Amino acid sequence: MSLTIKSQSKTRPFINTDSKDLSVEKLNLILFGHAAFQYLYAGCKLRVFEILFESKKLTKEKLVEVMELQPYPAKVLLLGLSSLNLIIKEGDTYRNADVIDSMFQQKNWKIFYDTVLFEGEIVYKGQIDFLASLHQNRNVGLRRFNGDGDTLYKRLSQNPGLQSVFYNYMGSWSKLSNPLLIDSVDFSQFGKVLDVGGGDATNAIDIAEANATVKITLLDIPDTCEIAEANIAKYELSSRIDVKPGNFFKDQFPKGYDCILFIHQLVIWTLEENTEVLTKAYHALEPGGKVIIFSSISSDSEDGPLMAALDSVYFMSLPADGGMIYPWKDYKTCLLKAGFSKIEYIDCQGWTPHGVIIAEK
Ligand SMILES: C[S@@+](CC[C@H](N)C(=O)[O-])C[C@H]1O[C@@H](n2cnc3c(N)ncnc32)[C@H](O)[C@@H]1O
Repeated sequence: MSLTIKSQSKTRPFINTDSKDLSVEKLNLILFGHAAFQYLYAGCKLRVFEILFESKKLTKEKLVEVMELQPYPAKVLLLGLSSLNLIIKEGDTYRNADVIDSMFQQKNWKIFYDTVLFEGEIVYKGQIDFLASLHQNRNVGLRRFNGDGDTLYKRLSQNPGLQSVFYNYMGSWSKLSNPLLIDSVDFSQFGKVLDVGGGDATNAIDIAEANATVKITLLDIPDTCEIAEANIAKYELSSRIDVKPGNFFKDQFPKGYDCILFIHQLVIWTLEENTEVLTKAYHALEPGGKVIIFSSISSDSEDGPLMAALDSVYFMSLPADGGMIYPWKDYKTCLLKAGFSKIEYIDCQGWTPHGVIIAEK
């Protein structure tokens, strides 16, 4: 006996025909976005994509065996991954989506994987408090992380597993975006560069490797400086990159630099705080010195890009009081208030909505 499934399209409740408007499919993806992400996260942690890249394609039986899952959970996972087109079912076999395979081919998988782990193990927890953060105008999501300190960064070292998830991601995200910065700015014009909140030193290392004469000082909180120092030593760049532990809100900026960098930094704070640190940078620079901001940036019309908007939920909910993927015009206002002039904008047009802003004292 065969089973007939009737299609009852007239029971579909929402239909729109305007292609610029929201489609039902996109609405469903928003409604169940949290579930879609869980499939991606589980697929990454269970190495489904790595296994399929190595094998090209696998039957369901073989895939279930290598995932080391029981048949029922494997059935759920494969339903989700294939419905989301993360993996493609062709007859009795599964393969990766082309976009996933291309990340392996281009050696970018680690960058994507580190980002998925950061989203799953840090961002996800804090974003639960997005609505409360909107109501209270502060980063309520920080309460999900143990420890003292009013920012996520101060608490990471009290959560060692999470500290490596964070800096693996931050290093990977920077590795992905740094070619955009290095292509946009001629760092050979600078003698000494100060990298404010320089993290694990991925940026300083990439800039130093691309420019043989430049010297860089990385300023960060003491716990992060230890991670940076280990990386700088690994790349044998200790003679050209030094590390200065400190707090850029409390301490004066050191003098003697002709370039001050803020990379993935001013997205964390309020615009008032950004003006405060840019003013400190202005006073530390010699006349003619430059400040460079490199981060994701949203459009001045404040309606996109989508990645800028989605990333802003994290900055609203978790790392510190304030912060979002700000539009260009907000940085311009902060820079002018700080005293800078000759402001230049470079829209990098990459996968991420990165931009570079250069201003002169
Ligand atoms: C989003 S991460 C960016 C790291 C690095 N710039 C990058 O692009 O990979 C922000 C960094 O700022 C540092 N930071 C936060 N508050 C700070 C403060 N008050 N003083 C010094 N560093 C700080 C954090 O420890 C963290 O490494």
